[in-house]
Order: sequence, then structure tokens, then C-alpha cells
Amino acid sequence: MKLWGGRFTKETDDKVFAFNESLSFDQRFWKQDIEGSIGHTHGLVRAGILTEEEGDSIIKGLERIYDKFEDGSIDLSGGYEDIHSFIEAKLTEDIGEAGKKLHTGRSRNDQVALDMRMYVRDEIDDIDRELYKIIAVLVIIFEKNMDTYMPGFTHMQKAQPITLAHHIGAYIEMFIRDRGRMADIRRRMNFCPLGSGALAGTTYPIEREYTAELLEFYGPTLNSIDGVSDRDYIIELLSACSTIMMHLSRFAEEVITWNSNEYQFIELDDAYSTGSSIMPQKKNPDIAELVRGKTGRVYGELMAFLTTMKGLPLAYNKDMQEDKEGTFDAIDTTKTCLSLFTEMMRSAKFNKERMLESAKGGFINATDAADYLVGKGVAFRDAHGIVGELVLKAIELGVSLDALPLEEYKKISPVFDEDIFEAIDIETCVNRRKTIGAPGKEALEFELEQYKRYVNSL
Ligand code: ARG
Repeated sequence: MKLWGGRFTKETDDKVFAFNESLSFDQRFWKQDIEGSIGHTHGLVRAGILTEEEGDSIIKGLERIYDKFEDGSIDLSGGYEDIHSFIEAKLTEDIGEAGKKLHTGRSRNDQVALDMRMYVRDEIDDIDRELYKIIAVLVIIFEKNMDTYMPGFTHMQKAQPITLAHHIGAYIEMFIRDRGRMADIRRRMNFCPLGSGALAGTTYPIEREYTAELLEFYGPTLNSIDGVSDRDYIIELLSACSTIMMHLSRFAEEVITWNSNEYQFIELDDAYSTGSSIMPQKKNPDIAELVRGKTGRVYGELMAFLTTMKGLPLAYNKDMQEDKEGTFDAIDTTKTCLSLFTEMMRSAKFNKERMLESAKGGFINATDAADYLVGKGVAFRDAHGIVGELVLKAIELGVSLDALPLEEYKKISPVFDEDIFEAIDIETCVNRRKTIGAPGKEALEFELEQYKRYVNSL
């Protein structure tokens, strides 16, 4: 069963075996292990280390194992240490002697480095697809809500009026950057460690450029020590996943607030809400809360693995087996959260009237009243003071700025005229903001065009 029994005279203690084994979790990359082994076999045949027939028999055997994994008929029992020894043993059981030649010129150190890299590469592509989907859904919401007016907040206080499209656009930007990070990590990590051996390469004349190309890498890694001990790309992925979760968590927090009885800006679909066991009136935003909550564990995986790698001498050390479970968990969590959040947003309904109503309160158009005065020749600092007094007056009378009578305006500054009401109308306030990146219709149309091009270019 073991790959390394020769030097040992005693069986491994059961607890030690259980502590040491990784098959229970590295079976997850059976596919990459088999694909990597097929690539390696081609390399061995090309180098003349295996005959064509041996190569053929190994590849056919590996493909049979692949099919068994795929149809679920593979039996993992038998006390194997890891996915590498399991597959090699099954191959030898199936094809005999030739199976024992597969591991020529290879170590589990470069094998696991290869498997993990190919696995992470596939997952990066998956996460990227999920990011694309959420962007596509947000662009639809953006397009439908270019004249849905709402308050924009700073310090959670109503600040200036914006549109829902503008607010959603901020998240589109975040997820576009997240996709950029995925592409960036993929580009940097896409070099093949196969051929690095245990740490010092191999004496067999294997053409590493050839196997690298077969396995769809840009080329081989250039240092065999680094080849087996580099896990930077995992740390980068965990960091990028943490950033995605941070974005989702901020978004979740807003959805939770918007869904509250006080706000009622959004109504989540029944399929994405849950009830209470005691309070019949409740409809809780559990999905958003769980997304917010799960952010913690993804951050945790990043910190855990950074700590594992800290202080590891070159080259391979068994500590590095700890690169797997946390990474798998972080990847699964990020993908599930992205996909559920996307569907939750796709099915959510926005309460446009409530948002507009809310935008009208809170003296959200005070800046525009000041700008009005500036337009009539008042210096901004003076205008700021005048509008401050106006707000005080409005609070005293218990009205919003647009309900304050013109005489009150004129009492504070004679510059005010009837046209002030047009100037502080919410729609006017928003749509006068038309510089690139602003909430006004004109700016949004420009952005929408870019976002549509972005979504359609895939
Ligand atoms: N299960 C091991 C890991 O994940 C495979 C590599 C084992 N190499 C070794 N020299 N023991 O890291």
C-alpha cells in the first residue's frame, strides 16, 4: 500500500497514519492528478524512457481510472496515504509491471505541486465565471434603475441624492477589479513545476517545455527548488477570495439594511428569505447574513495558510500539505456565496417610491441649494452658511427644503427666487451631475455603454 515501505521495519501506528494521510481531502484533485500523470507519461515516452507500448498501456489504464472516478464506481478504501499513491497502486493493479514505471523521474513533491496548481487554475476560471455572472446581473439592474432616485449616504447619514444604478455601479466596479485579480493570479502562476523532482530536478532527459505545453502552461518553472515549494499563488488566491468576500459582505450589509422595516428599499424574493419559528410576521434576509458571516472564515483561511508558510525552510516540508483543506473551503465558500448572492439580487424587487421618498428627506439637496447661490454669484463659503441657516429654519418648522415657503428663503438671503424649487428638485439635483462617474442620467448612459460592451465581449 505504501510507496516507501522498503526502508521501514515497522508498520505505521494507526493514529500516525490518520494524522499523516491526505487521501480524505486530496481525492478532490483526482482529475488533475490523472491529467498530470498522462502528461508525464508522454514526456517519458518522448525521452525514450518508456516504450510507446508502455506509454499506451499506462495512459489507457489511467483513463480507465478516470472513468471510474467520473461514474462514481471508484473504491477508495484500502488504507492509501494520498491520491498519488492511490492512483499509482490502482494503475499497477490494472496493467501490471508498466504501472510501476510511471513515477520514473518524478517525485510526489513535483507531482503535488503540479496537481494543486492545475486544480487552483481550474478554480480560478470557475470563480471568474461566477464573477462574470454577478456583473451581468448587476448591469441589468443598473440599466433598469437609471432613474430610480435614492439617498446616497456618508457616515450612514443621508448625504446627496443618487440613483440606484449609480449605487449598483460601485459594486460592478468592485467585481470587475476582482476579475482582474483572477486574471492576474492566473497569468503569474501558469508555469509548470513538473520535472522539478523532489527538489533538484531529474537526471532523466525529460523535455520540460514539452510537458508544460501539453498541460497548457506557458512554460516550465525555472528553479526546481522554487518549483516544489512555491505556494504564493494559493496565498494570492486566498487574498483575492477575501477581497471578493469583503465586497459581498459590504453589499450584504446594505441589502440587510435596505430590507429592514425601517428602510423597505428592497424586497427579497421568498425563495431567498427565511421565516422565524416563533414570529409569524418575519421574513429574514438569512442568505445575505450568511454571506456576511462566512467572510470571516475565508479571511481565516488566508491568515492560517500565511502562517503555515512562514518560516518554512526550502524546499518541500510536510507542513505544506496544510495548503489544501483551507483553500478548498475558501474556494467553495466564495463560489457558493457569489452564486447565491447573484440569484438573490436577480430576484429582488426594488421599492422605487420608498427610495424617492427617502431621498426627499434629510436635506439631501442642501449642497444643491448652495450651488444655486454660487450660480447667482455668491461665494461658496457664504452660500454654505446661508443654506445652513435655511436648514435650521426648516428643522424648526418641521418641513423639508422644498416645502419651505419662498418668503423664508428670501428672509435669509434676497438672492433666492422662485427657480430655487426647480434647482433643489431631486431629479434636477441628480441629473445635473453629469461628469464621468457621477449619478446623473448622462453619465450613467456613458457607463452603461461600457458595461454592456464589457459583458458582451465575453
Ligand atoms: N500529501 C502530500 C502533500 O499534500 C503529497 C506530497 C508528499 N511528499 C512528501 N515528500 N511526503 O503535500
